[in-house]
Amino acid sequence: MISSYPLHHKTPRTPRRCSALTQEILTWHLVIEMFTLPQKDFSAPTTCLGPTCLQDLGSSHGDDLEGECSRKLDQKLPELPGVGDSAMLSPDTSYLSSRGRMIKWFWDSAEEGYRTYHMDEYDENKNPSLSQSDMQRVEPSLLQYADWRGHLFLREEVAKFLSFYCKSPAPLRPENVVVLNGGASLFSALATVLCEAGEAFLIPTPYYGAITQHVCLYGNVRLACVYLDSEVTGLDTRPFQLTVEKLEMALREAHSEGVKVKGLILINPQNPLGDIYSPEELQEYLVFAKRHKLHVIVDEVYMLSVFEESAGYRSVLSLERLPDPQRTHVMWATSKDFGMSGLRFGTLYTENQDVATAVASLCRYHGLSGLVQYQMAQLLRDRDWINQVYLPENHARLKAAHTYVSEELRALGIPFLSRGAGFFIWVDLRKYLPKGTFEEEMLLWRRFLDNKVLLSFGKAFECKEPGWFRFVFSDQAHRLCLGMQRVRQVLAGKSQVAEDPPSSQSQEPSDQRR
Ligand SMILES: Cc1ncc(COP(=O)(O)O)c(C=O)c1O
Repeated sequence: MISSYPLHHKTPRTPRRCSALTQEILTWHLVIEMFTLPQKDFSAPTTCLGPTCLQDLGSSHGDDLEGECSRKLDQKLPELPGVGDSAMLSPDTSYLSSRGRMIKWFWDSAEEGYRTYHMDEYDENKNPSLSQSDMQRVEPSLLQYADWRGHLFLREEVAKFLSFYCKSPAPLRPENVVVLNGGASLFSALATVLCEAGEAFLIPTPYYGAITQHVCLYGNVRLACVYLDSEVTGLDTRPFQLTVEKLEMALREAHSEGVKVKGLILINPQNPLGDIYSPEELQEYLVFAKRHKLHVIVDEVYMLSVFEESAGYRSVLSLERLPDPQRTHVMWATSKDFGMSGLRFGTLYTENQDVATAVASLCRYHGLSGLVQYQMAQLLRDRDWINQVYLPENHARLKAAHTYVSEELRALGIPFLSRGAGFFIWVDLRKYLPKGTFEEEMLLWRRFLDNKVLLSFGKAFECKEPGWFRFVFSDQAHRLCLGMQRVRQVLAGKSQVAEDPPSSQSQEPSDQRR
């Protein structure tokens, strides 16, 4: 179906070497520790990750790594190293700079999980081909260098597409569009052109953890976390709610640590919460950003994956007036909404021509082939098919899958959050952690993995409360059924440890609407 990150979204039948998958999780954990600013208000988790463990990464693989890390579970996190600290990495790769070695390390560790998954993929159905006959045309002009922003015919289609689906009050303009190979590249390009090395973006947690790499690996830009929690403080509040007060506090903290903050990243619909910002909330955050002259990157890659109309999603581009249009940059991609993460198509919409041009300049390295640009234009202009066939079917499938997993969780008495958008449910498994630590979170994650269920644990999203997990439901019914059966088995084995959880933890968050 529409899974775009198969490793996270699917239930692999037989991961041959858990160690490879473990490495991926270790990477997330490590990246977050390395490149986000240290958190002040709660103590750093005891973890197997840290520079000591990382040093081993250069020379150990697979099971060695796992053994090494599990031995270090009870060690405290050492002082955080600086970005690109060469002592963190194996000195063996002498062809590369310290920065190059770090970049290679990410590949070796994080990507190995995907390679392992694809070697042993659980997918008995071949995906039907998306192509129509008119998708295959090869014009000579498509084989030549083009405008690095993207061919005009494609930018025109993107502008029309976004005007329609974002419901912009006035038609969006092709000159404000840049197309490139995916949302990840766009984060990387924007970080590089908006920030000096070492500067930071504010980002509310929990957040899609790979953004840490996206802004750091080329741009050497850090993330200053706005830590949110599940506590509901009033009638109008919801768990993990972002407020201007929290933004102000995080900004002050970053400044007090001598970190210059250049922008704010908002993901809407949110990954991993599935949360949606109301237009009023969006407006408040944008006004906050304007007050501090901060850029805002609004990541709307799940914009068409809102499967509950009542969720009331509104694109930032639908707002009547943007408080600071020159500092508001909107991102969309086909990876999620069209389930085509392998195609590598992303787009920036910004009224700031300096930013558009600087990003376009980097498109020399991140640009799309003319053939893909042609195919994308064909797809985006096929409005009848998108509206009458694709979106209704996609939303119906997402809704059915979501309903199934939600009901299973309710039957198990497990609290969760979800608001009818995205591919995931944010699940509260805190009652399964006797001491409520990140080590226990990791152990529970490993137990799921040992039972062939690959979930994402909260620490990978820089969640400050141990025990939250992201369940991806965008999969076929029989696979979800098998996955939930395995989840039940794991939790049944763990249920006896849930003794007397603190009242705030046992309470089901009120925001269970879909
Ligand atoms: C919120 C969010 N933004 C961006 C991306 C990256 O998208 P792409 O695959 O287009 O690089 C992802 C991928 O999971 C995502 O979840």
